[in-house]
Amino acid sequence: MNFKALTAAIAMMAMPAAVMADPDDDKLIINGEIEMISVAKAPEHLENLDTIYSGWHFRTDETQALQIDDFDNPAMIFVDQAADVYETVDGAAGKSCASCHDGVESFAGLTAQMPKVDPETGKLVVMEDLINECRTERMEADAWKWSGADMQGMVALIGLQSRGMPMNVAIDGPAAPYWEQGKEMYYTRYGQLELSCANCHEENYGNMIRADHLSQGMINGFPTYRLKQAKLISRHNRFRGCIRDTRAETFAEGSDEFRALELYVASRGNGLSVETPAVRQ
Ligand code: HEC
Ligand code: HEC
Repeated sequence: MNFKALTAAIAMMAMPAAVMADPDDDKLIINGEIEMISVAKAPEHLENLDTIYSGWHFRTDETQALQIDDFDNPAMIFVDQAADVYETVDGAAGKSCASCHDGVESFAGLTAQMPKVDPETGKLVVMEDLINECRTERMEADAWKWSGADMQGMVALIGLQSRGMPMNVAIDGPAAPYWEQGKEMYYTRYGQLELSCANCHEENYGNMIRADHLSQGMINGFPTYRLKQAKLISRHNRFRGCIRDTRAETFAEGSDEFRALELYVASRGNGLSVETPAVRQ
């Protein structure tokens, strides 16, 4: 039993102590062959955790089962659609992704290192930025909406090429100031409930909050397919939802604040396998 001090506001929302539960100790093996690192020693920069867990360990057996076989994983429909889009000409330049890039396998390893700093501009970029830059600058096509099905399908297709590889985002050098900004956000208390990300995902993971088993809030499985919404959910959309739950005004998807937060949250999962596309409740 994993009984941690419950932050006051969370205690009000929490379920009785009897239903608190540790992350389970099932093994995450996909298609019977791809062994995922879903539990790992916490990266050195994490002062308050010894062990990091994939969000998969906090889900019910039924939800877990949907992620262990690609035939059952409802996200794969969107990934297949993105594979078609990859080959489809769009925009005034008359190009498809495939006109310039090799097969999508050529992106293997990229998601494990995202977000990263663009060496030319010094700006922190996430996958959605890289894709939209190609669409607008190189294809002369319209930018995709951040949380649209086209965009998140493509982010998932590219992420799938790194599935199983350990997350390894850089937090030093030019990334350092962004990482600091993201860290500060993670520990800032938002909204009427005055709750920070850490209050829920660091101090209270393992506890039940309403009907939800709180995880460590990792993003190694994003975009994830959420059963409740029946679609792929972007990282920034998840951040928005969590901040809104504290009854606070939130930042926009694609804002610099969420880019920095994404880098920091990704770095908390350094060492866990990329699980894209994961399935959640
Ligand atoms: C006209 C050629 C062209 C087209 C069309 C194009 N790209 Fe690119 N793309 C590039 C170039 C050039 C780069 C920068 C050099 C590099 O990293 O390969 C790039 C970079 C990228 C990167 C970043 C790679 C990295 O390692 O940082 C991603 C991801 C990407 N493109 C995805 C796409 C997707 C998805 C599409 C279709 C929606 C697309 N591109 C269409 C030429 C193109
Ligand atoms: C009031 C508590 C609460 C706060 C505060 C909160 N979250 Fe969450 N978060 C949840 C719950 C509940 C879920 C769904 C169950 C789970 O995966 O933990 C969740 C899920 C997530 C997930 C999805 C994890 C997965 O494996 O799919 C991420 C990522 C996340 N939160 C990040 C954040 C970030 C970043 C912040 C701060 C901006 C934050 N959360 C603040 C309650 C909270």
